[in-house]
Amino acid sequence: MSVQKIKARIIVAANTDRGTHVWCQAFEQALPGARLIPWNEADEDSRADYALVWKPPGALFRRETRLKAVFNLGAGVDGLLSLPDLPVGLPVVRLEDAGMTEQMVEYVVHGLLRVSREFAAYETQQRALAWKPLRPVEREQWPVGVMGLGAIGLSVAQAIARLGYPVAGWARSHRDIAGISVFAGLAQLPAFLARTRVLVNVLPLTGDTENILNRQNLERLRAPAYLINVARGSHLVEQDLLDLLDSGHMQGALLDVFRVEPLPADHPFWRHEKVTVTPHIAAITLREHTVEQIVNKIHSLEQGLPVSGLVSRDHGY
Ligand code: GLV
Repeated sequence: MSVQKIKARIIVAANTDRGTHVWCQAFEQALPGARLIPWNEADEDSRADYALVWKPPGALFRRETRLKAVFNLGAGVDGLLSLPDLPVGLPVVRLEDAGMTEQMVEYVVHGLLRVSREFAAYETQQRALAWKPLRPVEREQWPVGVMGLGAIGLSVAQAIARLGYPVAGWARSHRDIAGISVFAGLAQLPAFLARTRVLVNVLPLTGDTENILNRQNLERLRAPAYLINVARGSHLVEQDLLDLLDSGHMQGALLDVFRVEPLPADHPFWRHEKVTVTPHIAAITLREHTVEQIVNKIHSLEQGLPVSGLVSRDHGY
């Protein structure tokens, strides 16, 4: 990590479990010379050059009018871009990888193996003291489809391909990727879904992708289908999934994200025998990786150099 001093003023508003102060301390150490300012609604304009945020209040952007860039302390920028006060021309930089890709790969591979190798059934059998080998996995029976082929989705698809499962990916535009059949755009979505049994959602949440996991699309999947959602809760029409689980078209779902988080205690997903719920942990922002990545980008910006991870406001990710 660079130890070159910079004079920047940096405001931090991180609505996370670890909180704003822990992030401030970490960046203070990594950016000698910089002033780290925790967001406090009652304060005056702190004339910050940069903002480091996770789910920040819109008021931050009304008050801090000299920002040169805002860094999102996560991969998904849907929450940030939905703030009406975010200035149109302000560069938004999202986190790239920062240790998240390998966590996503592990989570999805675990979900796929759990369903295709019938581990849940063996857990049930153990409770009944039943020694009963089930069918061996036939990978052709488990075609996997990964929606979203950004850095994370691509790594997930490649890891699954390496395990020998047939894999397709769905992306906005076509690309040639060895070992993965790529379907592109809305026109090819039906064909992508029709060849897919295990659907993995890694899409960014945008106006175009909200509610994309709806009855019409899920019904196209090869039954009995399985859903792994590690992207955003608002991609999924939850009642449609519940109906298709009841009808047997869907055999189960592994869900890490929900429309309302924490998932309310009375939500049917908690108690549904075909649904596995995890509390938005598929890929957690790792502080050391995050600090190093953002510090390097601030140094680049201060020297007038370009940085990667710039969000396209048109595309919404
Ligand atoms: C987590 O959900 C993230 O977008 O980083």
